[in-house]
Amino acid sequence: QAPVITIDGPSGVGKGTVCHLLAEKLGWHLLDSGAIYRVLALAALHHNIELDNEEGLALMAAHLDVSFSPDDEGGIKVVLEGEVVSREIRSQECANAASKVAAFPRVREALLRRQRAFRVEPGLIADGRDMGTVVFPDAEAKIFMTASAEERARRRYLQLKEKGLDASIDRLLAEIRERDERDANRKVAPMKPAEDALLIDTTELSIDQVVDKALRFVVE
Ligand code: CDP
Repeated sequence: QAPVITIDGPSGVGKGTVCHLLAEKLGWHLLDSGAIYRVLALAALHHNIELDNEEGLALMAAHLDVSFSPDDEGGIKVVLEGEVVSREIRSQECANAASKVAAFPRVREALLRRQRAFRVEPGLIADGRDMGTVVFPDAEAKIFMTASAEERARRRYLQLKEKGLDASIDRLLAEIRERDERDANRKVAPMKPAEDALLIDTTELSIDQVVDKALRFVVE
């Protein structure tokens, strides 16, 4: 079986960037598991499936026609039912809806095989909330990234500003806290570090410092 490195942690901690850099440096594949939950949430909105309809969501999760491929800018191209939705799924609305659909055990169950299918040679960087605890418990190396909620809200704010989008830091902080709470307290696959995970508090670290730490841990 191909090797896998799992990187879990809450929203806005910098996982996405770190995972992209690691995958690039190692020449490995990348699983952005959050994108799967985001796409599922978007599909639910398209097909008018209520976000509290566990059975409908699980059925859709099992049959979802979605593909992920690298795009030209080092990002991921996401195609849902023939339509490119790479940008659309990054909206705050999709993020909040994703964390609602992600709370259902049967939805998570239905997505397990799809996620494990990303584990192919030469290796996989898996980005999410439960990569090290549930999806790849036998991973070669596990990392859990944290940072204060304030710092994460600040980073999101700067990210949005860079894209020319307007945002309120207070509103971002409130949304981050709400999502953290839902992700950490759900009954199934709650967000928490695996017992054998390396904890990296990134509050005071640059992206390069985090990537360095991760690489040193991985080659050990
Ligand atoms: O980009 P951000 O870190 O804010 O979120 P994301 O990684 O795209 O994930 C969106 C939502 O999907 C999270 O708030 C989680 O509720 C859910 N999720 C999950 O439950 N399990 C994962 N492995 C990944 C995401």
